[in-house]
Amino acid sequence: MNPLWLPAPTDLTLLPDEIHVWRIELDQPEANLQHLRTTLSSDEIARAERFYFQEHRQRFIAGRGILRAILGRYLGIKPSQVQFNYQQRGKPVLAETFADSGLAFNLSHSQKLGLCAVNCTCPIGVDLEYIRPMSDLEALAKRFFLAREYEMLRSLSPNQQQEVFFRYWTCKEAYLKATGDGLSQLEQVEVLLTPTEPAKLQITEDWSLFELVPANNYLAAVAIADFGWNLKCWQY
Ligand SMILES: CC(C)(COP(=O)(O)OP(=O)(O)OC[C@H]1O[C@@H](n2cnc3c(N)ncnc32)[C@H](O)[C@@H]1OP(=O)(O)O)[C@@H](O)C(=O)NCCC(=O)NCCS
Repeated sequence: MNPLWLPAPTDLTLLPDEIHVWRIELDQPEANLQHLRTTLSSDEIARAERFYFQEHRQRFIAGRGILRAILGRYLGIKPSQVQFNYQQRGKPVLAETFADSGLAFNLSHSQKLGLCAVNCTCPIGVDLEYIRPMSDLEALAKRFFLAREYEMLRSLSPNQQQEVFFRYWTCKEAYLKATGDGLSQLEQVEVLLTPTEPAKLQITEDWSLFELVPANNYLAAVAIADFGWNLKCWQY
């Protein structure tokens, strides 16, 4: 899916059957960055300060600051008033005080882009990857993918391999980010796909997967329980 990323309307609403995906530019002008930094909590600022490279620090500030701005918009509060809790494996969720909103979100970033997925019914996961050459692609696939997936990948031309590798990766990670389990469970999740067919999760529960192309050389996937979702994509 190669969506149009339109600016969100001013009277934005999130219906119970909707998923909103926001595309975020992480390389922000200095003035914006300074403002976004003022919206972060002290632990987020401390985390930003720990990045060794300025580029990484600035992208973290942009990602967190814009995430706060997006969530603040749905909650009707200032970005600085958004509060997070962290699950056991580090997944940020909204603090208890916002439980009534039911708002769930997940963020992913790669290079200059971020994606934030939002839903008001159940937990959601998103993964975004910049497609880059991987010299150890087959070795990684052998280590982290299931035998069937690895064999499928090996049957493809090198060009197709790269794209299919990142499709497997983003789909698995999107699911593991929805559950909050993270990468340690990568080899437990089976994804069914071919170069021409949309990916499906091979699990017993009903889960939806959406594959997105947010920009040239980027691939992303969004995972959420159940079916019947209506996806809307916004440019922040
Ligand atoms: C979460 C994880 C999948 C991120 O992968 P990634 O491709 O490097 O990064 P992405 O850009 O897709 O996602 C990062 C964002 O996901 C969110 N996130 C962090 N941990 C998460 C988790 N367990 N589940 C879902 N989302 C998570 C955060 O918003 C994070 O953004 P931030 O770094 O700006 O705070 C990976 O770091 C992981 O597996 N973490 C689990 C760690 C763990 O198991 N720890 C053991 C307990 S100590």
